[in-house]
Amino acid sequence: MRADHSGRKEAREEGQEARRLLARAHAENAFAAGEAILEVRDLVKHFPLTQGILFKRQVGAVKAVDGVSFDLHKGETLGIVGESGCGKSTVAKLVTHLEEPTAGTIRYKGNDITRASGRALKAVRRNIQMVFQDPYTSLNPRMTVGDIIGEPFDIHPEVAPKGDRRRKVQELLDVVGLNPEYINRYPHQFSGGQRQRIGIARGLALRPEIIVADEPVSALDVSVQAQVVNLMERLQDEFGLSYMFIAHDLSVVRHISDRVGVMYLGKLVEVGTEAEIYEHPTHPYTQALLSAVPVPDPEAEGKRERIVLEGDVPSPANPPSGCRFRTRCWKAEQRCADEVPLLAVPSLYEKADSGAAHPSACHFAEERSAVVAA
Ligand SMILES: Nc1ncnc2c1ncn2[C@@H]1O[C@H](COP(=O)(O)OP(=O)(O)O)[C@@H](O)[C@H]1O
Ligand code: SF4
Ligand SMILES: [Mg+2]
Repeated sequence: MRADHSGRKEAREEGQEARRLLARAHAENAFAAGEAILEVRDLVKHFPLTQGILFKRQVGAVKAVDGVSFDLHKGETLGIVGESGCGKSTVAKLVTHLEEPTAGTIRYKGNDITRASGRALKAVRRNIQMVFQDPYTSLNPRMTVGDIIGEPFDIHPEVAPKGDRRRKVQELLDVVGLNPEYINRYPHQFSGGQRQRIGIARGLALRPEIIVADEPVSALDVSVQAQVVNLMERLQDEFGLSYMFIAHDLSVVRHISDRVGVMYLGKLVEVGTEAEIYEHPTHPYTQALLSAVPVPDPEAEGKRERIVLEGDVPSPANPPSGCRFRTRCWKAEQRCADEVPLLAVPSLYEKADSGAAHPSACHFAEERSAVVAA
């Protein structure tokens, strides 16, 4: 009797799985794993700096994002890393259409969505969801968890008709590892890690294809960080999600990222696979960031050279000419002040069969074995 029951359950689950896969293939227009689901080109966001109270006049601009290009492939995780203020959140807001770009294009599955409006914008917002940094402030304290997670259904009732919402929300709670009976509780009744799970459940509600997670674990204890990262990995497999995973620290994104992009002062300075960035970094800024990441092996840790960057990050309202990193770079020469380095495979490695053969925006890009993590 029991065996029969579990056999039926299995068959039902298989049927559900097949329907889910079919529905997904249909929704994606047979969009294959590995294809660029998002293509970002020369993205720029300048925030005007104004003076005067009655008669505001523009006296400059904060160049928060200043010519950023990358692809996000179906099913991959692209980590974006850089110090606070380098423009990571602005990139996230541009990609999720919470901000309008000053210039540049964003293509989603081959369609230009940069200035999408009306129904097209609604569809984009449904498919590209954001998970925010701080679970303490991003959840409305006066709403129950059920209302928070179910809120996106108000805008997209087609995903969950009114009578079906409670069940859908409980399913989502279960999916992120929370007790479905907590549906009527308030955010303050949860721990930081649990709140981030609520944020993730809300991000998943509309069954998006892309999740842009802006420092989703930065506010959490280290032990809880790993749990949330593991949950996100599991959900990625389960729902075929593509992630942009933002962090200010290279150690956080290593585990989850297929590729990593390093940002400095509004620009991407190096992009590569996980192995290329962590084992063969060629940009001095990446090398400096990596030298600050502790290595588990104490012997290797002892031998490691630490690069301490001097000075502060310059203001994005008035970035240095040429290479923006030059005011803190130990390798800077005159050429660095005169010429903007392009994000391209360094000529030194162009023909080399080496992990160093990946894009790096430095005139003197070179591996520096002493800082490579063991
Ligand atoms: N709405 C805004 N108005 C003016 N300046 C902004 C605005 N949002 C961000 N900035 C500025 O843009 C730069 C990049 O910010 P942000 O994208 O939040 O960086 P990150 O997420 O990497 O810390 C910072 O100098 C920040 O002060
Ligand atoms: S271009 Fe010059 S200043 Fe910029 S990272 Fe390379 S060596 Fe340093
Ligand atoms: Mg930020």
